[in-house]
Amino acid sequence: MADSMDEAAIRQELAALGKSLFDRGYSVGTAGNISVRLADGYLMTPTNSCLGRLDPAGISKLGPDWSHLSGDKPSKEVFLHRAVLTARPEAGAVVHLHSTHATAVSCLAPEGGDAEIPQLTPYFVMRIGRRLPCVPYYRPGDAAMEPAVFEAARSAKALLLANHGPVVSAATLRDAVYASEELEEAARLALMLRGVPGVRRLTPAQVDDLLTTYG
Ligand code: 13P
Repeated sequence: MADSMDEAAIRQELAALGKSLFDRGYSVGTAGNISVRLADGYLMTPTNSCLGRLDPAGISKLGPDWSHLSGDKPSKEVFLHRAVLTARPEAGAVVHLHSTHATAVSCLAPEGGDAEIPQLTPYFVMRIGRRLPCVPYYRPGDAAMEPAVFEAARSAKALLLANHGPVVSAATLRDAVYASEELEEAARLALMLRGVPGVRRLTPAQVDDLLTTYG
C-alpha cells in the first residue's frame, strides 16, 4: 500500500482532489477516472461520475482480485487501471484524464511509439520521466487494451491512450494528481512552442541530473 492514510481519509482526499481537478478544467463532464491501491484492494471512481462531485461513500471498492465489493458501479476503465497497477507494483494510484493538451498530443503521437513532448522544464522530467509511450487506440472500457497498457506501463510512469488521453501513475494519490497536472502543462507548453525557433530544451546532462537526484 502506497499511502498510510486510512480508507476513509483516502476517500475524502480522492473527492477533494477530483473536485480540484474538475474546478480547474483538467476534467470536464464525466471524463476521467482515478484508482487507489489499498492494503485490501482498490478504490475506484464510479462510472459516469463527475470528478467534481464525487461522494466519498459512493466511491467503488474492489477486492484484491478487482471484483466489485461495494459502492457504486466502478469505472468502465477498470482494465486500464488494473494493467498499470499490476505493471507497476510501486505505484499507489492512477489518474486518467481527458485534459485538453495531453489529449491533443495523444492525437499526434505515433500509436505504439513514444509521444514527442520535449524536455523543457524540470518538473515534467521529475514527475513523468524520460518516456511517454502512446498505446494504440481502443474503445473506452475495451478489455482488449489491457496487455498493451500493461506493456507500456512496465517501462513508464505515464502513458497516452491514442486519441483519448493521459494515464499517470505515482506512489501516492496526491503525487499521481500532481504528475497529471504537470503532464498537462508540459503538453500545453510543447504545443505552444511547436515550430518556434530557438526553443531551449534541457540538455541530456540536465535530464540525467534531475533523474539521479529526484527520479
Ligand atoms: P467512466 O465514467 O466509466 O469512468 O469512463 C470515463 C472515461 O474517462 C472513459 O475513458
